Amino acid sequence: MLSSQVSFFPMVHFILFVFTASTIFHLQQRLAKIQPTWEFETLVLAPTESPTSPPLRGMWTINAIGRLGNQMGEYATLYALAKMNGRPAFIPAEMHSTLAPIFRITLPVLHGTTASKIPWQNYHLNDWMEEEYRHIPGEYVRLTGYPCSWTFYHHLRHEILREFTLHDHVREEAQKFLRGLQVNGRQPGTFVGVHVRRGDYVQVMPNVWKGVVADQRYLEQALDWFRTRYNSPIFVVTSNGMAWCRQNINSSRGDVVFAGNGIESSPAKDFALLTQCNHTIMTIGTFGIWAAYLAGGETIYLANYTLPDSPFLKIFKPEAAFLPEWVGIAADLSPLLKH
Ligand SMILES: *[C@@H]1O[C@H](CO)[C@@H](O)[C@H](O)[C@H]1NC(C)=O
Ligand SMILES: *[C@@H]1O[C@H](CO)[C@@H](O)[C@H](O)[C@H]1NC(C)=O
Ligand SMILES: *[C@@H]1O[C@H](CO)[C@@H](O)[C@H](O)[C@H]1NC(C)=O
Repeated sequence: MLSSQVSFFPMVHFILFVFTASTIFHLQQRLAKIQPTWEFETLVLAPTESPTSPPLRGMWTINAIGRLGNQMGEYATLYALAKMNGRPAFIPAEMHSTLAPIFRITLPVLHGTTASKIPWQNYHLNDWMEEEYRHIPGEYVRLTGYPCSWTFYHHLRHEILREFTLHDHVREEAQKFLRGLQVNGRQPGTFVGVHVRRGDYVQVMPNVWKGVVADQRYLEQALDWFRTRYNSPIFVVTSNGMAWCRQNINSSRGDVVFAGNGIESSPAKDFALLTQCNHTIMTIGTFGIWAAYLAGGETIYLANYTLPDSPFLKIFKPEAAFLPEWVGIAADLSPLLKH
């Protein structure tokens, strides 16, 4: 008891030290000439070496809101828009704690104490690229909103995929699991990651957004789409509603494995499994969108899952969320029409 406490506290200090040291290191890389008094009026970055590129002045950041998928969208959008506008990008410490344990991200971290001294101009983003975002004025801009659209960053997809490269141990754990799978006694030819978003959305979709979540029939159609095209595929199911999945996904062919642990507070394992599969079946939500984007194979998504007059369609453009080559299967909206 005592010995575990004794070893616990130095460990916390050690982790804090490493985190702080790495943050300071990242900041120093960017802020070579910062004034020691932290007067933000004088917070001007050193010009870059190259005489052809203009100096990067100021500091841009973005809000860290939502869970993994949302924060990935925020990170990628900050990365792309800061680059487009010639500004250096810094992520909030909360975003670093969400993303850095899973991915080899490279944007430097801005600590809360530093961030609170900066007179940020908030700049709201829609969930799709707009022409005016190419010329956002201001040196100290905090982007806000829930952007998660390929229209911001798909032209940089190699850089975005590099930023979201899994740490070796995260990837290896997923690979080890996949290597152990069999379809009716044989190695699977193709791995299809299936993400079934449930949880709060089961209530929020009908009650707030006049919409539905994926049902049994959608999943059956999506699985059959791959069964007709690939030789002995295996479906690797992850969800924050695994009990529903076990009851509603027919696994009698022996090609479905209920793999996810669905622990929302530690999504790394489920996310890594999906990205290591060859193809993706997603339902709704940014977690599935990112898993499909990173897996990079063929993707089936649930399409048109709200009524045409849904307020959801004011903040969400399907064509900006789903890549043009992804294949949509229309949702059955009849449960919404019964009242
Ligand atoms: C599950 O799939 C098997 C094999 O295709 C089929 O025979 C069975 O009827 C299905 N079960 C249900 C409940 O749909
Ligand atoms: C499919 O995914 C598995 C597991 O990650 C991988 O070993 C295999 O090389 C992939 N196949 C193709 C064709 O990419
Ligand atoms: C979704 O609705 C739009 C607009 O009505 C339509 O063009 C599109 O084909 C639908 N998508 C699917 C997959 O049914």
